[in-house]
Amino acid sequence: MNENIVETQELVKRYGDIEAVRGLSFVISRGEIFGLLGPNGAGKTTTISMLSCLLEPTEGAAIVGGYDVVKASQQVKRRIGLVPQELALYLTLSARDNLNFYGRIYGLRGRALRQRVDETLKMVGLLERAGAAVKTFSGGMKRRLNIAAGLLHRPEILFLDEPTVGVDPQSRNAIFEHVERLNAAGMTILYTTHYMEEAERLCHRVAIMDEGRIIALDTPRALIANLGRGIIQLGVAHGMAEGLLEQIRTLPEVRAVKRFDGKVKVEATRAQEALIRLLELFNRADTEITALEVLEPNLETVFLHLTGKRLRD
Ligand SMILES: Nc1ncnc2c1ncn2[C@@H]1O[C@H](COP(=O)(O)OP(=O)(O)O)[C@@H](O)[C@H]1O
Ligand SMILES: [Mg+2]
Repeated sequence: MNENIVETQELVKRYGDIEAVRGLSFVISRGEIFGLLGPNGAGKTTTISMLSCLLEPTEGAAIVGGYDVVKASQQVKRRIGLVPQELALYLTLSARDNLNFYGRIYGLRGRALRQRVDETLKMVGLLERAGAAVKTFSGGMKRRLNIAAGLLHRPEILFLDEPTVGVDPQSRNAIFEHVERLNAAGMTILYTTHYMEEAERLCHRVAIMDEGRIIALDTPRALIANLGRGIIQLGVAHGMAEGLLEQIRTLPEVRAVKRFDGKVKVEATRAQEALIRLLELFNRADTEITALEVLEPNLETVFLHLTGKRLRD
């Protein structure tokens, strides 16, 4: 069952002097929700464009659904659904007519087309609004229709490029549920985002991208366990006992300690465990804590640790 549905080898894409993708090698197993997480400009869309045969790699190779993206692009295209970052919808047409248009591109006609369009509208929860012009839709409804367009031919793998940008929280949750339902029914999903909460919540494995490279790849849980740092901020308004900072520094869960303006900032691998030990140390040293803030480690702190930058500026 651990068949690789996507396999890339040292993929490179240059636009003139700009090296957008700089040697990506990764595999996606059939049945996975695989995330590409990275800030704007990391190379996510360029990668998806190469995997869906819209752009030829400058160097390297990619196999999708068993076929080479350059040598057998027709075979690849039949097996993938692409939901682009930019909405590709006709605003003056109804939802149904938009899907009729895409369905014809995929070679569906007549009753088969009608059936498929209705099924797909139902899958994304838009059947009731099928006849309304898309310009009357909310951002979230447009996104869902965009997803439907990528699903009409029942692809084996769906590429979703930042599907929640410009979407209200409720529609965002609806999109997550659709993705999870499609995946439960057997579809492999490649999901790009610059929202770490989405990657953490949805993806079985996440490749963290920055400046055209994968800088870490694992399950969210393993990435966080190995690289994530929780932040504990303690207020010590009345001064600290001698040697306490040194004792904090030697705790096994603690990676770094800083002291500034009556506060101690502790970076910890496991924030909760570190906190218990910190409280013990402070009690024993008879140093009063006047304020306490705990931020658990997450993919944001993983990214911060790896690059020194925040995911969102
Ligand atoms: N058609 C293009 N021509 C020149 N540079 C491009 C083009 N498309 C993307 N880039 C550049 O390539 C890099 C990666 O872009 P992109 O793949 O869109 O990243 P992401 O989707 O992660 O935001 C960026 O520096 C971007 O400016
Ligand atoms: Mg993009």
